[in-house]
This record gives sequence, structure tokens and C-alpha cells, in this order.
Amino acid sequence: MFLAPSLLFLLASYSHLPGVSADVIADLTGKGFTFTYPGASNYTTASEPYNFRYTYKPAVITYPTTVDQVSQIVKVAKADGYNVVARSGGHSYIANGLGGKDGSIVIDMQNFKSITYDSSTRTAVIGVANRLGDIITTLGNQGRALPHGTCAYVGWGGHATYGGYGFTSRMWGLALDSVIPADVVLANGTIAKTSKTQNPDLFFAIRGAAGSFGIVVSTQVKTYAAPSSAMIFNYNYNLNINAATTALTNFQTYAMSNIPAQLGLEIVLSKGSSRGTVNFGVVGGWYGAANQLNATLQPFLGPLGNPSWEKVTPGSYLDSAKNLAGGSLDTSNPLGQHDTFYAKSLVTPQSSPMSQTALNAFATYISNNGYDASVPWFLQIELFGGSNSAINAVASVDTAFAHRNSLFTMQLYAYSSDSNPPFPADGFTFIDGVADSIVKNSPANWDYGAYEPYIDDRLANSEFLYYKNNLPKLKALKAQFDPTGVFNSPTGIKMKDRPNSFVHLH
Ligand SMILES: Cc1cc2nc3c(=O)[nH]c(=O)nc-3n(C[C@H](O)[C@H](O)[C@H](O)COP(=O)(O)OP(=O)(O)OC[C@H]3O[C@@H](n4cnc5c(N)ncnc54)[C@H](O)[C@@H]3O)c2cc1C
Ligand SMILES: *[C@@H]1O[C@H](CO)[C@@H](O)[C@H](O)[C@H]1NC(C)=O
Ligand SMILES: *[C@@H]1O[C@H](CO)[C@@H](O)[C@H](O)[C@H]1NC(C)=O
Ligand SMILES: *[C@@H]1O[C@H](CO)[C@@H](O)[C@H](O)[C@H]1NC(C)=O
Repeated sequence: MFLAPSLLFLLASYSHLPGVSADVIADLTGKGFTFTYPGASNYTTASEPYNFRYTYKPAVITYPTTVDQVSQIVKVAKADGYNVVARSGGHSYIANGLGGKDGSIVIDMQNFKSITYDSSTRTAVIGVANRLGDIITTLGNQGRALPHGTCAYVGWGGHATYGGYGFTSRMWGLALDSVIPADVVLANGTIAKTSKTQNPDLFFAIRGAAGSFGIVVSTQVKTYAAPSSAMIFNYNYNLNINAATTALTNFQTYAMSNIPAQLGLEIVLSKGSSRGTVNFGVVGGWYGAANQLNATLQPFLGPLGNPSWEKVTPGSYLDSAKNLAGGSLDTSNPLGQHDTFYAKSLVTPQSSPMSQTALNAFATYISNNGYDASVPWFLQIELFGGSNSAINAVASVDTAFAHRNSLFTMQLYAYSSDSNPPFPADGFTFIDGVADSIVKNSPANWDYGAYEPYIDDRLANSEFLYYKNNLPKLKALKAQFDPTGVFNSPTGIKMKDRPNSFVHLH
């Protein structure tokens, strides 16, 4: 194979770097797609994560334009002994789109960006590199919508294969629940069709754990009629520890009462105005009849008294999506967005609500330690379950995503004040302490879990907390579909509870 002399010179120096060999560069050259690797001038920007706390160095970042090229890259990675990962929107919390460690081959899917809507089947085919903002706009212009999160720049590839929660999720499910068939490139380069009827085990695995099984190249999704009215609401209170404990207890009771599926709701907690208090926000979306919002929220908001401020914004569905995305669905900034942060999650079971003791310990910790912390933070208590939730209407054995008995998913998030490094050292201790305040004050066998899209590489027992009772099946499928561990990453599914290299190959 012909290589320019200057490239040969570069390759000679790369062969000294751990994890980057001249062979793999040569094997990827001349196949019709571009790529970059350490030392190339375009590598620095290409290897930037969303979370600046990470600085992983992939061996190569590739930009295929066809499914066949994706297959070829996977085959090269397998033959040359590299792990391979997809990057769609690059919004992984722990830079998993870069491999979650040094030395992986990244398949950046940015050229897979088409969206086509078929009005006869009311389904859409969505390329994995689409950002939520573009999906919302394209479908919204046809009067259609899907369940998903709020930030315009989040990519479909990671969102629709691991979760995808937003305020329409109690009505329509998670983003991954909207996927009907999907095409996946497997570890041996095979391009597989998956659906309820084709490769159903793979279809199970890619809805919650895709990255451990293959590269999803295309998804067909069902769509829903965009609601004719959508209201985004925000009520804010500054509460002391007792009032916050009561409000959290009431929130949990309210969540389990007969509330409509058209209600999306979360509590957003942040530093209080003085030590011993906490800022308590009630935020959500209401997709039912506009004149029913007050009555729907009344049983929960009534006892809270007058908010310190409130804002209710009525409008169209597209208006509401824009509002939730911070005012714009535009995704044209090539630098996207970034932060420097640490986050973790806690999924609480509906069958075993948090106790008064746990809620009081939590309120006390965030009102005191949260006031003292140097790091800025926010906590979200997202309502996944409750009566009539479409998320919990799916059987937990139907998708790798296992949390179908959830009440809340809590996101615990601390960040540097200017969104750039360094990350304040007390950020880890504070956030870990928030989770501990609940878990350590709950029964020893409490059936809690964690939400993979808010992925946390410091979480002990994370495989189990993410996948719960689906973990044994996922491990068996991992051994079947990726026996040599081509798609391994530090936080992915392991074949067995011992090193993957121990597995005998046939
Ligand atoms: C600002 C921000 C806001 C967010 N808001 C929400 C929210 O409202 N609700 C919510 O549920 N989540 C939310 N998230 C979490 C988000 O859903 C996940 O980070 C999601 O995985 C991002 O997908 P991505 O394609 O952008 O990221 P990437 O970093 O590209 O990918 C994330 C993971 O998915 C894998 N992956 C990506 N594409 C593919 C593919 N085609 N095939 C196989 N594996 C693939 C990657 O290898 C990686 O492991 C938010 C994240 C951020 C940073
Ligand atoms: C990066 O730059 C090199 C050298 O100019 C070029 O060969 C390669 O195609 C570029 N890669 C991408 C992804 O643009
Ligand atoms: C809802 O209640 C608020 C006061 O809390 C009031 O200002 C508003 O007009 C009410 N909205 C409707 C639609 O009834
Ligand atoms: C590739 O792997 C799949 C899934 O394990 C298998 O069905 C298929 O036969 C394999 N193809 C080749 C060419 O080995």
C-alpha cells in the first residue's frame, strides 16, 4: 500500500506510542473514509470530550460514510486487537464515545445524519448522529414527536440506545422504547437487522446496552402526534430541612397517586439561601388540556404555599421543546457545548419508596453540607414512574434497560463554576455523600439501581445497578455476540465476573 513519505515518518514515531501502531493506520488507509490519530493537527479537536474532566487519547478516530465502511473498521479493529466504540453526539458523561480509556478505535458516526418521515406508517428513520434539536425540529414540522431528553446537542445514538428520558416519557416511554427495528454492525463485521422478530436477543441488548454489542447504524422509530398544547412550569421555594423533608415526602406520595400520563415532573434542588435551607424547584411539562394544570398540581403544590417565584409558559409543542432546551433548538455551533463535572444517579423503586429517615438525612445533608460545599451543584429527582407511566408499562425483560419498577431517577451533579477544569476536589465527596445519605439510610436489601445515561465510572457494582435482573442474560449474549471483547469498555458489560481474556474461544 502506498503511503506518502511524510506519513511514513509520522507512522514511525507512532509505533513507539502505546496503543497506536503503524499497522492499524495502514489497514485503515485507502478505504474511502477519513480518520485522525495522535500527532495529526486535527486530532486535538476530534478527541475533545463533552466532559473536560477526561483527556482520553483514542488510537484512531474514524469518520465512515457508509455502513459497509463501519463494518470494515470493526473488522480492522478486531484483527489488529483494538477495542472499538461508536461516538454519535459525544455527550457521554465519562467520555465513553472516546472509548472510556486510552487506545480505542472510535467510529464517529457524524455522517449518519439523515431523517426521513413516512406519513403512511407514521414512522421515521433516524440516523444515529442526529442531535435531539434537529430531530425535534424535523419531526415537529410534520406535527410529530418522540420521547427524549431536553438538550439540543445530545446525540440520538447514545440517547436512543441507553435510555432517553424527558417530560413526555410518562406518556410515551423512553427514547429507546420508540425504536422498532435497528441495524447493527456486530463484532465480526456482520450487518445485522434487529427487531422484535429479527434477532430479538440483539434487539433486547441494544435497547439499554448497545455499545457492548455493536455499532447501531440506523434506527426506525414510531412517532406520536405532537400535543396541541404544551406548558412548561417552574415553581421555586427556599425550604428549611423540615419543610424540605415534608415536601419530598409529599412529592413521593403525590407521585404514587392517580396522576395523568400527560404530566412530566421533576424536583430540582440546589444550594439554599442560607445554611440549613435548600432551593426547591418544581419543574415539568404538561401536555394535557391547559386549564387542567393547576388542578392537577394542586394536591402537591397546595401545601407548599406561595412560591418565591413561578413561571408557567403555555404554547405549542415546539415552543415547549425550545423552552426546555434553553431557548433554542439550534445545533450549528461546531464547538457544541462542554462542562467539567461529576454526576451519578440513583433509581428508586416504586415498590419500596424512600423512608422518612432517608428523606430527612438527604434534606439535612444537602441543606448543610450542600451549603458548605465549594462546588456548584444541582440534584434532579425525575419522575419516571407513578400511576399511568408508559416507562413502567414495558416489562423489564423486554429491553436491556431494566428499570421498569422505577419511581424516581435522581441525577446528582456537581460542576466547576466556569465549566472548565479544574474540577473542585470536594465535588466528589459532596456528590458521593448525597447518594450515601439515601442508600445508607435505606434497608440493606433496598432494590435501588442506577441510570446508565448518567453514567458514573466511580460507581461500585455498577453493572448490577445499571442492569439489575437483566445482567445474567446480557452477559450470556455478550459471550455469544462479542466473544473476543471487541466492544469492551471499562463500564460496559463483561462476559463473566472475571477477566474477558479468560474465556475460551472456539
Ligand atoms: C447536556 C446533557 C443533557 C442531557 N440530558 C439528558 C436528558 O434530558 N435525558 C436523558 O435521558 N439523558 C440526558 N443526557 C444523557 C445522554 O442521554 C447520554 O449522555 C447519551 O448517551 C448521549 O448520547 P450521545 O450519542 O450524545 O453520546 P456519545 O458519547 O456519542 O455516546 C454515548 C455512549 O453511547 C455509545 N454509542 C453512541 N452511539 C452509538 C451507536 N450508534 N451504537 C452503539 N453505541 C453507541 C457510545 O459508545 C457511548 O458509550 C444528557 C447528557 C448531556 C451531556
Ligand atoms: C486530518 O489531517 C490529515 C493530514 O492533513 C488528513 O490526512 C486527514 O484526512 C484529516 N482527518 C480528518 C478526519 O479530517
Ligand atoms: C393557576 O393558578 C395561578 C395562581 O396560582 C393563577 O395565576 C393562574 O391564572 C391559574 N391558571 C389557570 C389556567 O387557572
Ligand atoms: C457473525 O456473528 C454473528 C452473531 O454471532 C453470526 O450469526 C454470524 O454467523 C457471524 N458471521 C460470520 C461471517 O462469522
